[in-house]
Amino acid sequence: MTPLSRRRLLTVGSLSAGALLTGSVPPISFADATFGTTDPARTTSRVSRGLPADVFQLGVASGEPWPDSVVLWTRLAPDPLHGGGLRGIDAVPVEWEIARDQAFRFVERRGTAYAHPREGHSVHVEPQGLRPGREYYYRFRAGTQISPVGRTRTAPARHAQPHRMRFAFASCQNYQHGYFVAYRDLVEQDVEFLAFLGDYIYESAPHPRAVRRHEGTGEPVTLAEYRNRYARYKTDPDLRAAHAHCPWIVTFDDHEVDNDWAGGVPQDPGKQSPAAFAARRAAAYQAWYEHMPVRRIAKPQGTRIQAYRRLRWGDLARIHVLDTRQYRTDQARDPRQFDDPSRTMTGPAQERWLVDGLTSGGQRWNLLANQVPLVRTDRKAGPEEVLWADPWDGYRAQRRRLLRVLGSDPVSNPVVLTGDRHFTMACDLTSDFDDPGARAVGAEIVGTSITSEGDQDQAAWHRRWDQVIAESPYWKYGDGRRGYVVCDVDRERALATLRVASNVGTPDGRMSTARQFVIESGRRGLEAV
Ligand SMILES: [Fe+2]
Repeated sequence: MTPLSRRRLLTVGSLSAGALLTGSVPPISFADATFGTTDPARTTSRVSRGLPADVFQLGVASGEPWPDSVVLWTRLAPDPLHGGGLRGIDAVPVEWEIARDQAFRFVERRGTAYAHPREGHSVHVEPQGLRPGREYYYRFRAGTQISPVGRTRTAPARHAQPHRMRFAFASCQNYQHGYFVAYRDLVEQDVEFLAFLGDYIYESAPHPRAVRRHEGTGEPVTLAEYRNRYARYKTDPDLRAAHAHCPWIVTFDDHEVDNDWAGGVPQDPGKQSPAAFAARRAAAYQAWYEHMPVRRIAKPQGTRIQAYRRLRWGDLARIHVLDTRQYRTDQARDPRQFDDPSRTMTGPAQERWLVDGLTSGGQRWNLLANQVPLVRTDRKAGPEEVLWADPWDGYRAQRRRLLRVLGSDPVSNPVVLTGDRHFTMACDLTSDFDDPGARAVGAEIVGTSITSEGDQDQAAWHRRWDQVIAESPYWKYGDGRRGYVVCDVDRERALATLRVASNVGTPDGRMSTARQFVIESGRRGLEAV
């Protein structure tokens, strides 16, 4: 390594280590750290010795906490915005290790994975045999280069009865609309995981007047272009620190592919043929997989990807992660079609899977990681009803079925966590949104965005929405600022804390708590504290 790249690596490493620590423990010095048990000179192949410097610029990540395993992720990309920078280099051995301590004195598992060019030189490791409910630290080595250290955590044992859990959820991080101020706050929070509900990237073209600019010349279409787009996002140090801070449970929404896409139908079918859009979707899924800490089961097969899944936090909670893009009917052009029972948001197989998981019991809280708002949102104050066609408002027949299930006795404490809307909505879900006296069947918290829509005029936001909120008895609280939500869940109640940014148009925005919402176990619906 050249002195320059060594210094840079150390800086990157100590920065992310600093983000992990709460001040009491000194940052790890990689110069002194030994990696693995064997002599590096013998285990390093010719390929990895010839690697360009700074292969770990995109950082590390972990995800999918199970009681005995988590996914560890990195991608070798010395030239991230130009295809990664390893063109012509075949599979690269990448050593990994996961330890109980930050200094890697107590290594629990280690091994070697291969970063293949056909996966953008990304690595997904699923170490098995870890202990449940434990904090771990992990890192990678390629050649002589050592990655930053990430912190992760396993889920409690399957039959454990945890008293509490703490996690965060977030969505919609448009790079062009601002700085990821919220993640600087997240790394100060002692959360067990972050659920990311979609719009990790935006596919929009670079905008000359944006706060920060996307790479490239237009919307990504090819795999190479999507890779560069993910790399652009991961050049953000706050995003990398957030990944290194805790495991993520990630799902995608529309902008990972194309605005408002629905199954095989793009936003603008007149401009993208079915074949062209199929190729684009395959490229977008592949790039998503390559950059997300998801399990191998989520590796796409062309235009098919297994993204809906369940995770479990002992008997305290189950997390049902939805896929509301891949199997949905195209958005209705005419609101009269919103009630058509043949229209689906999830497809029939996922709908059955969701109902089964919700009604089979055994968990106190049912958390749905959901992309688009389930709650009715009338966009216009006054007697006229104007709905968006893309969220569940456009799929009302299936929504009625789902609300009936959520309100049924076997479903314990359903709480829907949602992205997409770019403002905060804390809501009761009721059996009939048109009936002001309808009973609550559950709660939904529509999180705001990390940055999408940027810094808005808050007075204008309230002028537009306060009247709608007043006319919507199930909508308890609304807020137009950027941010994310921290949730403290115990056996008696769930407390959601809305963290908002003073501004995201400059890197120095400050975060504060806007409001808290509480959901009592056994009582349907939520209350603003
Ligand atoms: Fe979004």
